[in-house]
Amino acid sequence: MTSAPTPTSAPCRALPESWVVRPRRVEDIPGVIELMRRVYVEPHGPEAVWPAETLEQHLRVFPEGQLLIVDAQGKVIADSTSMMLSQERAVRLHRWSELTDHGTLSTHDPDGDTFYGVDLAVDPDFQGLGLAHILYASRIALALQKGCKWFVAGARMPGYHLASDLLTPESYLALVERGLLFDPTLSKQLRLGFILRGLLRDYITDPESANCAALISMEL
Ligand SMILES: CC(C)(COP(=O)(O)OP(=O)(O)OC[C@H]1O[C@@H](n2cnc3c(N)ncnc32)[C@H](O)[C@@H]1OP(=O)(O)O)[C@@H](O)C(=O)NCCC(=O)NCCS
Repeated sequence: MTSAPTPTSAPCRALPESWVVRPRRVEDIPGVIELMRRVYVEPHGPEAVWPAETLEQHLRVFPEGQLLIVDAQGKVIADSTSMMLSQERAVRLHRWSELTDHGTLSTHDPDGDTFYGVDLAVDPDFQGLGLAHILYASRIALALQKGCKWFVAGARMPGYHLASDLLTPESYLALVERGLLFDPTLSKQLRLGFILRGLLRDYITDPESANCAALISMEL
């Protein structure tokens, strides 16, 4: 059996045999909440963690779109939330809460031509190993199967607070896009093939990103 990578391993492009990528199930919900606590509570506070009812609603609205990775013990180590909508709506300036109806995904349109990344979280102990890369590959495969032409997301820019005395959000994005600054979230997403389309102000409550996000898209 392949041994599980440790946090210091080089990025993997295939999961160890005992780890699985699959759609989220009702019984995974406590594990997803625990993962969100580990990823989000420190900078954002407890309201950044979805309640069980919201995660249950995702499974009613778009069950196959909610993909996660579990380790050999069944622990959720990475999770993604997605929906579909029209490209026109996705690339318009927007707030996360308006586009996703406060994360409930009641705005999901199964006939939409665009796959929208609502959330992506990798356990801090397993970041940098390629798990986001693997989840994106699975999400893109699903998006293509659904006939989507675009993948759009609002990417956090959590490194911005370290530079906000010196740079506007627009200048920060320009430097990250050119690879002159590294942002722990946005740089990784740009590495995965997204292009930067602009700045979303007041996107979400996220002090590290000054409540901004980068509007990113990928043609499928
Ligand atoms: C953003 C996040 C999901 C990325 O997950 P991850 O599993 O660490 O990302 P990966 O290891 O798959 O890396 C993605 C890309 O960034 C690159 N990368 C990873 N760490 C890097 C580093 N320290 N320096 C430069 N590039 C790096 C990888 O090589 C990969 O590119 P490649 O596939 O071309 O090699 C994760 O850091 C996270 O959960 N952050 C907190 C929550 C969050 O901000 N979510 C996003 C909401 S928009």
